Amino acid sequence: MSKTILITGGAGFIGSHLVRLMVNKYPDYKVVNLDKLTYAGNLANLTDVKNNANYEFVKGDIVDTDFINDLFKQYQFDAVIHLAAESHVDRSIESPMDFIMTNIVGTANLLNAAKFNWNNNFDGKLFYHVSTDEVYGSLGETGMFLETTSYDPRSPYSSSKASSDHLVRAYFHTYGLPVVISNCSNNYGSHQFPEKLIPLFINNIKNNKPLPVYGKGENIRDWLWVNDHARAIDLIFHKAKLGETYNIGGHNEWTNIDLIKVLCKVMDKKLGRENGESEKLITYVTDRAGHDMRYAIDATKLKDELGWEPSLQFEEGIEKTIDWYLANEEWMNNITSGDYQKYYDSQYSNR
Ligand code: NAD
Ligand code: TYD
Repeated sequence: MSKTILITGGAGFIGSHLVRLMVNKYPDYKVVNLDKLTYAGNLANLTDVKNNANYEFVKGDIVDTDFINDLFKQYQFDAVIHLAAESHVDRSIESPMDFIMTNIVGTANLLNAAKFNWNNNFDGKLFYHVSTDEVYGSLGETGMFLETTSYDPRSPYSSSKASSDHLVRAYFHTYGLPVVISNCSNNYGSHQFPEKLIPLFINNIKNNKPLPVYGKGENIRDWLWVNDHARAIDLIFHKAKLGETYNIGGHNEWTNIDLIKVLCKVMDKKLGRENGESEKLITYVTDRAGHDMRYAIDATKLKDELGWEPSLQFEEGIEKTIDWYLANEEWMNNITSGDYQKYYDSQYSNR
């Protein structure tokens, strides 16, 4: 094996797409997937690669300092791609401490373990931190997030991710740890936990359940197909200059309500319903506390420096995504049995 790479959070949504890409594209890399398997981690996301010779799964918690130090000693990683995180804004409003522990303390543990284990011999080493555009805060009607935009996080989730970004940069400037960071817009695609807007609404439309639109549905998100995010991470991992930050986004802004109407329309067609039937499920509910109005990424730097562009138009991506959820009922049923209903009731019953 030419390199041993630690991918954290590889059983989650984006992590599983990245693990699949790396395992298949680089048979001479050993990919170690470290994941705590929280409610969001699911090994069923990786059944197609689980027996590959260059893949190994390790269950563990990035908050556990001794465990992380031992893991670095045992595997002698050449690189880390760090995705493990608590990732859902609504949960961060309910339980901010989980976010502070995993996203901040967990990241600090990984940085320390890398610094200690690489022992100031950083040749050929890389610590890649995967972050979000939400660290930049909320936009008004105009403007876009650039890599130079000041941080202005406003939810416990985004502020915990912002803290982790700051720590990563501090290890670069203070200790010379070779790092790179990317900040991506909202992802959509297969294998996403149905707490996030798109899989939640696809599942509710299918089951004729209300579609809880926060506030007036006027908030804007910039959506990127998850496979294009994984392609960007691969490129940045191999080509980026150390210490740099790259924004990743699809130039694909939608108000929530327009996006939801597209979902309803495509689902009507797929489910053989009359046009307009699923839209009747739209229910306006109490807004999310501190709801960021608009995110929009300017990904020019990534395009100009590394030649990355999204591979898929949104209409095609959303259709593929809906097809995947409809064809993978068992995946969804396994996730939505058990604790999911408790979460759903606590989030939505009093809105
Ligand atoms: P996800 O919630 O689907 O997956 C997170 C994974 O991390 C899960 O498999 C979970 O088990 C694991 N995990 C959580 N806590 C852990 C811990 N303490 N130790 C080890 N593993 C732990 O999240 P995602 O949507 O795939 O996001 C992955 C990363 O990308 C996150 O860092 C997130 O901030 C970032 N990001 C996400 C989006 C998006 O739209 N989903 C956009 C930009 C950036
Ligand atoms: P989400 O998928 O949670 O991503 P994020 O908050 O990280 O952008 O939400 C996307 C948008 O959809 C956001 O503006 C909140 C809104 N939303 C709803 O209107 N209803 C819902 O049930 C959920 C989960 C989200």
